[in-house]
Amino acid sequence: MSVFFNKEENKIVLSTAKTEYIIEILRNRFLGHVYYGRKERGYEPVYEYKLSSFTPYYEDFYEFQPDVASTEYSFFGNGDFRCTSLKLRNGNGNSVTSFEYKCHRIFNGREPIDRMPFAEAGEGDETLEITLWDRVSECELKLYYTVFEDCDVISRHMKLTNSGKCPVYIEKCMSLQCDLRGDNWDMITLCGTYFRERMYSRAPMQPGNRSIFSRRGASSHHFNPFMGLCRHETEEESGECYGFNFVYSGNFLGEAELVAENGCRVQLGLGGENFGWKLSPGETFESPEAVMTYSDDGIGGMSRNFHKFTRDRILPEEIFENRPVVLNTWEAVGFNIDEKILLEFAGKASAYGMDMLVVDDGWFGAREHDRAGLGDWWENPAKFKDGLKAFAQRVKKTGMKFGIWIEPEMVNPDSELFRAHPEWTLRCPGRENMLSRSQLVLDMSNPCVVDYLKESFEKVFGDVPLDYIKWDMNRHLSQVGSDYLPADRQNETAHRYMLGTYDLYRWFKKRFPKVMIENCSGGGGRYDLGMMKYSHQIWTSDCTDPVWRTRIQYGSTLPYPVSTMSCHVSHPGNSVQELEYRYTVAVNGMLGYEMNILTMEENVLNKIPGQIERYRRYEKLIKNGEYFRLLNPCESNYCSYYFTDSERKVFLLTFVQLAADCEPSKIALKIRGASPLAVYTDKLSGKSYTGQELNEGITVETTASEERFCRMWELVKNE
Ligand code: GLA
Repeated sequence: MSVFFNKEENKIVLSTAKTEYIIEILRNRFLGHVYYGRKERGYEPVYEYKLSSFTPYYEDFYEFQPDVASTEYSFFGNGDFRCTSLKLRNGNGNSVTSFEYKCHRIFNGREPIDRMPFAEAGEGDETLEITLWDRVSECELKLYYTVFEDCDVISRHMKLTNSGKCPVYIEKCMSLQCDLRGDNWDMITLCGTYFRERMYSRAPMQPGNRSIFSRRGASSHHFNPFMGLCRHETEEESGECYGFNFVYSGNFLGEAELVAENGCRVQLGLGGENFGWKLSPGETFESPEAVMTYSDDGIGGMSRNFHKFTRDRILPEEIFENRPVVLNTWEAVGFNIDEKILLEFAGKASAYGMDMLVVDDGWFGAREHDRAGLGDWWENPAKFKDGLKAFAQRVKKTGMKFGIWIEPEMVNPDSELFRAHPEWTLRCPGRENMLSRSQLVLDMSNPCVVDYLKESFEKVFGDVPLDYIKWDMNRHLSQVGSDYLPADRQNETAHRYMLGTYDLYRWFKKRFPKVMIENCSGGGGRYDLGMMKYSHQIWTSDCTDPVWRTRIQYGSTLPYPVSTMSCHVSHPGNSVQELEYRYTVAVNGMLGYEMNILTMEENVLNKIPGQIERYRRYEKLIKNGEYFRLLNPCESNYCSYYFTDSERKVFLLTFVQLAADCEPSKIALKIRGASPLAVYTDKLSGKSYTGQELNEGITVETTASEERFCRMWELVKNE
């Protein structure tokens, strides 16, 4: 039983394998947050009432002062001066609400969230639903907590129903609030830009509010919706660390607010600046889902909780036993799609052990460059003289699978679609629409647009033997207005855009159940749990420079399992050493190649079959193993990590030096969990180590040469 109601103490306890989360229903009115942390603690936490000056209270319950109370969810304008979870403009025109406890229920599994991605419940997972009521707005609020017991993860979302007679307007909506005690907190965020996604950043919290956000309509390259809160003393494998993430791919707001004496309030949700919603009488609004985890095994422990959760509860079922090793054509040919050359690529790639040809941008409409064609989803007959189907069949005859690129949410002004339906783009009356990469954004909140896309893809792919789709999104949303929505619902456009997009994803998966989706947004601009619900893997970044890739990949592994990272070896020049270096970096995730194999020299190409063979040997471990980071490439000249199985029989260890060292150095790579007395043999060098030696660390010695050094060890326990 993972949710338990203690009637005598009026407490609800949510427990996972290693953590506990405790709520107290205070005088049957308010939801006090009692505890979130490790389960085995040797004391029974109690709700701490706090009193302070300059803090409002109700006359009959003075001990509960919302501004200094730890609560489950908070309401704007009601005596809590911190950032609050819900701001609702009611029929009186003010935005003050106060929701009080009405009842709760506990049930097996979970209920789906309407039109949105959410984590699947596993066996034994339970949900707590708490119902609250605000008598002035006459709205009912339901808070949901689903407990994913074996992953040490709890998810949160809310549902609001207007039972009154006038419309109310949601002005801010958060899915998760977590009031953490004390002021000793560091915040970990993943920030960046195009080509530099998910750069690791850790900084002590100061009094005030620190936020991460997207106002771009996509979760974005700039901030990932993941947030970590850990103690100053927390390290990679020790100390307390909380992780928070959002199962959503559009605008978001994550806040951590430290106010004197009050601890640190963490919130995650849609926010209010780029979100609004009119709730008419009888209507219900459901928020996206947010998730949280706690670990006292440091940042690494938090990551491993999220990895397991994402693998077991979010990601779609595998379509192929092995993830296909793709050859993507983009870096080699760009828009110059020539079927003869592509077939040569396919034949040669197959001969060198690759599995799938991916035809990237440029195959459809008048797409000769990025200024035309988006929106016109029919094959360009000049490029495929016998049609796309015949071409795909020819590719498959070479022994390769067939994949193709799409970017459904966009349109070029120079396209048949735009000429026929300019009103199908996001736009605001009287304002000039702005371009980005010469394209406009389709109004995905309009069901006619989504239907058009479904029909187009049905027509163009209906009889093509398709194995894989690379689903791209190459600009962010400006002039976010919709011709489809009335004036008082314009603020809903961005969220409705996501609902329309998810609708298209769901349709695609149902219509083409055997097709694997790789998500992409100018690289990793929509690298989030929402997209992971539909995509097995995500193109990690357009940047394939191996040094930057170690940093991008390092950040990505904080919340996400490496099985989501699509990592291609690109541009090795004609250097075997460079090919190996890039390969070593790429097998931190799912391997692919993206280069002109027609012009590469044989001695370099000849290395590829061996690389793929090795990758196949490790693939399961990389996909499903436990991941330990050793050296942070954002803070040092090295990157190192290892994968291991649950029985600790194999350790796949990688070390990458980012730049030549000026001075020789010695670095110990410590493997935890190797049994000290056992012997492990490195399958790659033949050398043996005792477990104790591994615990103390394999020593890497770098020299002060011009060359960068990288190495892998495949350490297998001798039986
Ligand atoms: C984006 C993707 C690239 C490629 C191009 C095609 O930038 O990230 O991999 O598909 O679009 O236009």
